[in-house]
Amino acid sequence: MKVLYPGSFDPITYGHIDLIRRAVRLFDKVVVAVAVNIGKTPWFSLEERLDMVKQALTDMKGVEVVSFSGLVVDYARRNNIDALLRGLRMVSDFDYEFQMAIANRGFAPDIETLFLMPSEDYFYISSRLIKEVLTSGGSVSDFVPDFVEKAMKRKLEQNK
Ligand code: PNS
Repeated sequence: MKVLYPGSFDPITYGHIDLIRRAVRLFDKVVVAVAVNIGKTPWFSLEERLDMVKQALTDMKGVEVVSFSGLVVDYARRNNIDALLRGLRMVSDFDYEFQMAIANRGFAPDIETLFLMPSEDYFYISSRLIKEVLTSGGSVSDFVPDFVEKAMKRKLEQNK
């Protein structure tokens, strides 16, 4: 079974990596899909987000990293994907995830959305929170790989 794990990955976090690690144990292939348009102004360009995802997953087998634009289900159809994968952390994720899963089911009734939970260590982290912590002068080394933290610091400097 081939699953598609779509997201903004702005930037990739240990939460995403934990989820992908769980997914590769379950599925034949995990396609990590970095969205071109994410409906919010990203810190990182598509190229930067893609490069960071690729670097974070270099040692993982059974993973492919791609980018996509347009509807995620259209990408999934074109590439013979069996299901979409999303992470569920807190109850607060549920509304948004439910809305998206139902919308996607409306567009493509044959493609299921599956959910996995990350480790409790990453339950409360998100790319948004991590950006806020770093901007406020905190350390994010527990939440993102070293090279991501460095890239975030460079971005902050550039945007000063
Ligand atoms: O990491 P995110 O920001 O929660 O990921 C959201 C993402 C990129 C998966 C979602 O916005 C998406 O799939 N965008 C592509 C357009 C689409 O198909 N939207 C879902 C149906 S409304």
